[in-house]
Amino acid sequence: MSKTSAIGVFDSGLGGLTAVKELIRFLPNENIVYFGDTSRVPYGNRSKETITRYAMQDARFLQTKDIKILIAACGTVSSVAGNLGDEFHMPYTGVVNPTAYAAASTTKNGKIGVIGTTATINSSSYKHAIENMNSSLNVYQRDCPLFVPLVEEGWLHDPVTDEVAARYLKELQDKQVDTLILGCTHYPLLRSTIRKIMGDGVCLVNPAYETALELGRLLEEKGLAGEGTEKNEFPYRFYVSDLADEFKAFANSILPYDVEMTKKIDIEKY
Ligand code: DGL
Repeated sequence: MSKTSAIGVFDSGLGGLTAVKELIRFLPNENIVYFGDTSRVPYGNRSKETITRYAMQDARFLQTKDIKILIAACGTVSSVAGNLGDEFHMPYTGVVNPTAYAAASTTKNGKIGVIGTTATINSSSYKHAIENMNSSLNVYQRDCPLFVPLVEEGWLHDPVTDEVAARYLKELQDKQVDTLILGCTHYPLLRSTIRKIMGDGVCLVNPAYETALELGRLLEEKGLAGEGTEKNEFPYRFYVSDLADEFKAFANSILPYDVEMTKKIDIEKY
C-alpha cells in the first residue's frame, strides 16, 4: 500500500456513485477503484448476517486491487457490518461516523432526523453515533424503503415520488427537526424533492460529501494522499457483479467523466 495505490470504494450497487462523485470533486489526485454489487442489490432489506457476508466478499475483492484505504459508501453496510478495517487490517471508513459528526455539529435546536433503508434504521447506527457524541441531542428515525426503487426507476421529479416522500417525512416534520441525514446512497438524488417538503430551514446532510471530507483528512493523517496519476492513465476503474452496461450508462449520467472501464466479475468467488 502506498500513496499511488487506489481508494477502494464499494456499495450494494450503483448508489455509491454519489460518493464517487464527491471523491472526484474533493480529491482529484486520487485513483479510485469501485465495486458495485449489482447482482445482489438491494442490501437494505436483508439480515445482518447476509449484509455482513456480502460486505466481506466485496471488501475481499477490492483488496486484490492494490488499495490503500477501504470505503463502504453504502449506508446499510456502514450501519450493520461492523468495522471492516479491523477485519482487513487497513484504513477504513464507513459513512456513519463522519455524517453523524456533521449533523451533531450543525443542529441548532438539538433535533436531528435520519432517513435510510430498513436495515440502517433498525440498526440505529446514526442515532447511537450521534448520542455518543452528545447525549442531549434528540434523534428521530424513519426508514424509506420505496426511495431506492423510485430512484432506480429514474422517478426523481415525479408526483408519485413527491407523494411517497411527503408520507415518509411527515413524522420528522412534526418533530420539527432542523437537520436531516440523507442516510442512504440514493437519497442525495432526491434532494430537491426532500428539500421541497422539509423546507429551506432544514439542513440536509449528505453522507457522500461528509465522507469525502473525512477521507481527505484520513489520507493526509496517514501520509497516503495521492499526487495525481500518470498522463493518459484513466484514474477510475469500475467493477460490478452484473449489468455492466446499465451501470456504465448510469455512471455516465451522474459523473463528470465518461466511464471508460466497467467490468463484470463473479463476486461469489471472493
Ligand atoms: N446502498 C444502499 C444504502 O446506502 C441502498 C441500496 C440497497 O438497499 O442496497 O443503504
